[in-house]
Amino acid sequence: MSLFSPARATPPAAAAPASRERTRARFHTLEVEDVRPLTEDSVEVTFTVPPELADDYDHLPGQYVALRTTLDGEEVRRSYSLCRAPEHRTDGRPTRLSVAVKRDEGGLFSTWAQTGLHPGFRIDVMSPQGTFTSGLDDLDQKHVVGIAAGSGITPLMALAHTVLTRSRTSRFTLLFTNRSTLDVMFLEDLADLKDRYPTRLTLHHVLSREQRTAPVLSGRLDEPKLRTILGSLIDPSDVDEWFLCGPLALVDLCRAVLADVGVPREHIRFELFTTGDEPVRAARPVTVSAGEKTVRIEVNLDGVSSTVESPVAARESVLNAALRVRPDAPFACAGGVCGTCRARVIEGSVTMTENYALEPDELERGYVLTCQSHPTSDRLVVDYDV
Ligand SMILES: Cc1cc2nc3c(=O)[nH]c(=O)nc-3n(C[C@H](O)[C@H](O)[C@H](O)COP(=O)(O)OP(=O)(O)OC[C@H]3O[C@@H](n4cnc5c(N)ncnc54)[C@H](O)[C@@H]3O)c2cc1C
Ligand code: FES
Repeated sequence: MSLFSPARATPPAAAAPASRERTRARFHTLEVEDVRPLTEDSVEVTFTVPPELADDYDHLPGQYVALRTTLDGEEVRRSYSLCRAPEHRTDGRPTRLSVAVKRDEGGLFSTWAQTGLHPGFRIDVMSPQGTFTSGLDDLDQKHVVGIAAGSGITPLMALAHTVLTRSRTSRFTLLFTNRSTLDVMFLEDLADLKDRYPTRLTLHHVLSREQRTAPVLSGRLDEPKLRTILGSLIDPSDVDEWFLCGPLALVDLCRAVLADVGVPREHIRFELFTTGDEPVRAARPVTVSAGEKTVRIEVNLDGVSSTVESPVAARESVLNAALRVRPDAPFACAGGVCGTCRARVIEGSVTMTENYALEPDELERGYVLTCQSHPTSDRLVVDYDV
């Protein structure tokens, strides 16, 4: 029996629904409580959650929040995975949320965040989203493996902690690839976790630009190396669930090799941070000229219906059009990766450009990513509330 209900995997047939449904995203302004340097180019940022917002920020390990601010006069939103296991307080005191932001070369928000996010700074934080690890049930005797590259460690930190603390008999193995020791985020935290759970946590650091004693742990994690690791350090037949987080190329490689060595697809889950494509702007300006052929889009959000005309020639996304009349329409990555912009098509039809976020059963039920959807009917009704 599966330990987790499948989410964001690509099973051959329709997946069972995740045990925790996606919830509507809402922003609140939270204060930065602490900033801790992790490596030369990454920081862990902790926010205070006041008791009255504790329910809004209750989360599962592996969920992410979007941060929203204005940089150079433009609204910027970026998603960051929660890197600490959920805190459940019963004493009415504030809880905390932590994310880790790694500077992306040339990246707008992640570069600013290294210094711009400082204690006392207030920023809009979206309620946690995502189904990467939902359905975490009975962990007894279970062996969970995480494969991460670079900042892909963040959701797996929370997951590792949760797997190890929720059962006395569970095991977690982490295969973590970075360029060098200096680039390893949470290096000390992982060593501390290993000290606490010496027999149940196994760590394998693969360093691409540093020689390690074991040749299999030195150099780029490519197909031959992954196959060697699966034949020597991690026995796939001894693993219950796999969680992958890193660049698309690594995730694709791991999924293909794991499937090839016989791991059922429903036991392999992955989270993407980016597809590697050029970043997309969620809202590009579109105007309607007199007499121009348009599609009428009706948007239901928070129980209120709004209508917008979308010029056919503009080939804009449903989200792009929706934002003209509903600036509160939910989105984060605008690239088909995170799933925050999900809505259900009630009437009409769309084509989707990319989908790295919705599961097969969600597609069957008529859900779409509005940031990737383009109307193919004259009239379209989408509902963000269902
Ligand atoms: C669900 C989810 C969870 C995530 N969790 C984390 C996390 O825990 N930690 C983390 O560090 N990140 C995480 N990310 C990634 C994060 O959201 C951002 O994408 C990342 O920080 C980069 O944002 P940025 O604004 O710095 O870069 P952007 O400005 O968006 O640029 C991204 C990249 O594109 C390049 N670029 C910019 N403009 C152009 C252009 N015109 N042409 C070509 N290339 C261009 C930049 O050089 C950069 O390399 C997550 C993403 C998702 C979807
Ligand atoms: S906003 Fe992230 S998938 Fe659409």
